[in-house]
Amino acid sequence: MTIAQVLTKASKLLITKKITSAYLDAEVLLAFVLKTSREKVLAHPERKLSLAQIKKFQSLIARRAKYEPVAHLISYKFFYGLPIKGLPQVLIPRPETEQLVELVAEYANKTVTKGSKMPILDVGTGSGCICLALKKILPQAQIWGLELSTEALKLARQNAKNLGLSVDFIKSDLLAGFKGNLQDVVIVANLPYLDRQELRDFSVEVRRGLSYEPAEALFAGRHGLSAYRKLFKQINQREDKPRAIFIEIGSAFWRDFLKLAKDNFPQAEVSSLRDLCGKQRFIKIIL
Ligand SMILES: C[S@@+](CC[C@H](N)C(=O)[O-])C[C@H]1O[C@@H](n2cnc3c(N)ncnc32)[C@H](O)[C@@H]1O
Repeated sequence: MTIAQVLTKASKLLITKKITSAYLDAEVLLAFVLKTSREKVLAHPERKLSLAQIKKFQSLIARRAKYEPVAHLISYKFFYGLPIKGLPQVLIPRPETEQLVELVAEYANKTVTKGSKMPILDVGTGSGCICLALKKILPQAQIWGLELSTEALKLARQNAKNLGLSVDFIKSDLLAGFKGNLQDVVIVANLPYLDRQELRDFSVEVRRGLSYEPAEALFAGRHGLSAYRKLFKQINQREDKPRAIFIEIGSAFWRDFLKLAKDNFPQAEVSSLRDLCGKQRFIKIIL
């Protein structure tokens, strides 16, 4: 069989499963099997594949048809142009989170005087995608990644090493393990923010896809508020206040997140921001 034939067959199967990115997924998985780029796969539709290549590709397509995320099948995902290695025990970086990185970078570029180090704390760092992307954009910044999960911390450290980016990772229950001063620090966080009840409203593709990811990285009690409630409480218990806080939130209950932020930081400038799909997705708190 040729590249064109296996791609057509695979994408047809994924379309019957209502997988929205059927063509792209088939192309990415075939490029992975052939150890080449997607562009090269598309440039040679007439190339004949070996039986071993076809079998390997078909087994990946069968797993994708059961909604296993592509990032798990190929063990990495590009985030802000960086190849971030993944593991089933750690949340796969999402494209909307790239916007959170941009918000922080924009704020840092506007606020910090040239040459000075802006301290940034990424709370719940997971794979390290946010803090590593920020280090790439803001090489002068001093950046820490805080995380509770041992597997995630190990992966984040490995990603930093692979990418040659210098970030300090600390095992910490939110801010509890951070012994430095919060004064002048910018906090960025993409903590768990889903309520399990929301799953009913998601498509089969999204719902089944989420079942492959760690629950402790996704869910945060009623309306998804519990992780941020705890983070805000920890901040308010400290004398040393950060300069600003940027968080990613669940769009279904965005008004509750906004209220939580305003109630916790009544003196601050608090606003919500939309993602590229027009959903309320981020909160900016300038203290
Ligand atoms: C939604 S995931 C985001 C991961 C990563 N920041 C990203 O954007 O892909 C939330 C992360 O917060 C971590 N987390 C949850 N509760 C935590 C806590 N109490 N302290 C530190 N990290 C926590 C989870 O282990 C998970 O890695």
